[in-house]
Amino acid sequence: MRILSVVGARPNFMKIAPVVSELRRVSEVSHRLVHTGQHYDDKLSGTFFDELGLPEPDLNLQVGSGSHTWQTAEVMKRLEPVLEEFRPDLVFVVGDVNSTLAAALTAVKLGIPVAHIEAGLRSFDLTMPEETNRKVTDTISELLFVTEQSGVDNLKAEGVSEDRIFLVGNVMIDTLLQHRAIAAKSRILEKLGVKNGEHIRPYGVLTLHRPSNVDQAETLERLLQAINELGQEIPVFFPIHPRTMTRVRDLNLDHYFGGSRNGSPTGLQELAPLGYLDFLCLMDNSRLVLTDSGGIQEETTALGVPCLTLRNNTERPATVEHGSNQIVGVDPVRIVSAGRHILRTWSRSSRRPPLWDGQAARRIVEGVLQKRLCDSAQRGHEQRSSVQLV
Ligand code: UD1
Repeated sequence: MRILSVVGARPNFMKIAPVVSELRRVSEVSHRLVHTGQHYDDKLSGTFFDELGLPEPDLNLQVGSGSHTWQTAEVMKRLEPVLEEFRPDLVFVVGDVNSTLAAALTAVKLGIPVAHIEAGLRSFDLTMPEETNRKVTDTISELLFVTEQSGVDNLKAEGVSEDRIFLVGNVMIDTLLQHRAIAAKSRILEKLGVKNGEHIRPYGVLTLHRPSNVDQAETLERLLQAINELGQEIPVFFPIHPRTMTRVRDLNLDHYFGGSRNGSPTGLQELAPLGYLDFLCLMDNSRLVLTDSGGIQEETTALGVPCLTLRNNTERPATVEHGSNQIVGVDPVRIVSAGRHILRTWSRSSRRPPLWDGQAARRIVEGVLQKRLCDSAQRGHEQRSSVQLV
């Protein structure tokens, strides 16, 4: 069985890693990994391959940045000859980035079935580019691997037949559970000046990169102002995505970043993007995470660390129902008050959504192989029937 997996942007790498490692254990599978090159900075891409033990991609399409249409079209143009040459039996795509949509479309147009990992999530907000990517990818994918019950419900409500839907758990959490102990050895807390011996000073973590939060000057400034206010109580570390960094510089918002008092960091602390292990260690020891990322809502839930989501919706409601996530929107007063409340009443949550147990990739690979067996049994049956007819 020939399988080709496509990845392109930072959150794809931790999702595909456990799947690749499961596939490598199956002798009848020949697997290829293609990187579209949507993310190309070492800090957003190369580092993750090293830390997650992912094999070098067999091919990098080196697409790079551009408008959504350009990026999607360019991935399709460059991927088509690769699929024609390798002729996989199945293409795996993960998540909801432009590379996910582009790879799924290309495969389906060549008649190659697609398996979508992290299917069914819906924010019901079509202004998010990822929502279009999710809906189209799910519509055209044959196998839909789902992380949480809401995904199953959404797909059924859209009329998807049940035999395409597999609730398997969360591959991102497989990776997190596999790497948590190694991440605990990171020296990032000492480097940032919050750990001395066994003592860790309370701190928070912020990430922001959604266009809806960083492209509008007023929204971005109000967010930085609010978090700067929380930063007066505990330092808040902010590893900045390149898209956000460009906006902060263009809008001259650097004055919201803090400095240090008596050698200790205070306020909002600007950092370069971190690698997987350093960031996992930083989240795992923090009092509070503020984010607009989808994956970080899931990771904080798995870690039991309180998370405030700086958006008006989430496509991952299990992180609220079964986890440590709260949706607080972008109103500064609400953010500061929710943040202060968490700091006053802090506790770690031990709740986790069903099947977020580190076994999702195994279930996916077993599901695919089982489907393959059913399909060949079905083909055998059809062949026998046609022989009888003749
Ligand atoms: C993409 C995904 C988003 C995901 C995020 C994780 C889409 C629509 N968006 O958003 O869902 O949450 O990745 O990071 O696919 N850039 C660099 N270096 C890089 C890559 C990008 O500097 O290696 C800069 C470029 O200026 C680029 C901008 O970041 O224009 C945005 O990159 P892009 O891949 O288009 O989207 P992200 O915002 O990263």
